[in-house]
Amino acid sequence: MLNQDKKVNLIKSFSMDFDELDTKNAKDILSWSLEKFSPRIAFASSFGAEDVVVIDLMIKINKNNSRIFTLDTGRLNPETYEVMDQIQKKYQISIETLFPDYLDVEKMVYEKGINLMYQSIQNRKLCCEIRKIHPLRRILESLDAWITGLRRDQTFTRANVKKVEIDSSNNGIIKINPLADWTNDQIWDYIKKNDIPYNKLHDRGYPSIGCAPCTRAILPGDDLRSGRWWWENDLHKECGLHWNKN
Ligand code: ADX
Ligand code: SF4
Repeated sequence: MLNQDKKVNLIKSFSMDFDELDTKNAKDILSWSLEKFSPRIAFASSFGAEDVVVIDLMIKINKNNSRIFTLDTGRLNPETYEVMDQIQKKYQISIETLFPDYLDVEKMVYEKGINLMYQSIQNRKLCCEIRKIHPLRRILESLDAWITGLRRDQTFTRANVKKVEIDSSNNGIIKINPLADWTNDQIWDYIKKNDIPYNKLHDRGYPSIGCAPCTRAILPGDDLRSGRWWWENDLHKECGLHWNKN
């Protein structure tokens, strides 16, 4: 884990500043970050459309330095496991799969039921905390940087995402968002041109895919994230993986 001094030194050692890095394309950002941080850098993948693009780009840049992890909440759709398996086979890679603490899950389900998320926002956040955030924190503690598939036009809470930023919610490690300025069309062009396996739920009206009980299909023209936690009125629609405290 980075202490404050190490963190400051690491940031000072950047040959480019954050604004300059923001002008670089996805390949350059990924090459730069893999070179700079390997082996203490990994890509967080949920195997959604953006994520399979990042995997393809990373592996073509440097397969040996491409670490990929996923947070298996235990509540994912079968289609997600299917694409995970296809990706693993196509690229001949291992995927670091993080599971939640079973004692925490057992206690939560015993006390609040398996589908607690529908009962209150508090319960939903507890489920996300135990099934996603704690495992994420566990792996981030061993890293100096992590990569995500975040894009600015996914939702207003992501509009200011930078390609390289300091993740103040995660001990100030570096967060790399190489696709920050890509559009949805660019993502799909890349997937089709490169013949990349993708989650089949995307063909069935799911632009954004999370856990099975908390994601549903949307209608054409609906907000891209409206199928996530659809029963909640809160417009923020974030589970906490990308919620900066500052
Ligand atoms: S979420 O916070 O609402 O769940 P979203 O599904 O939009 O996030 O995905 C945004 C990015 O977060 C993905 O591109 C990926 O980098 C990361 N991510 C989301 N879910 C997971 C997961 N289960 N495992 C690993 N990374 C994930
Ligand atoms: Fe639980 Fe739903 Fe959050 Fe998944 S998205 S961790 S099932 S509340």
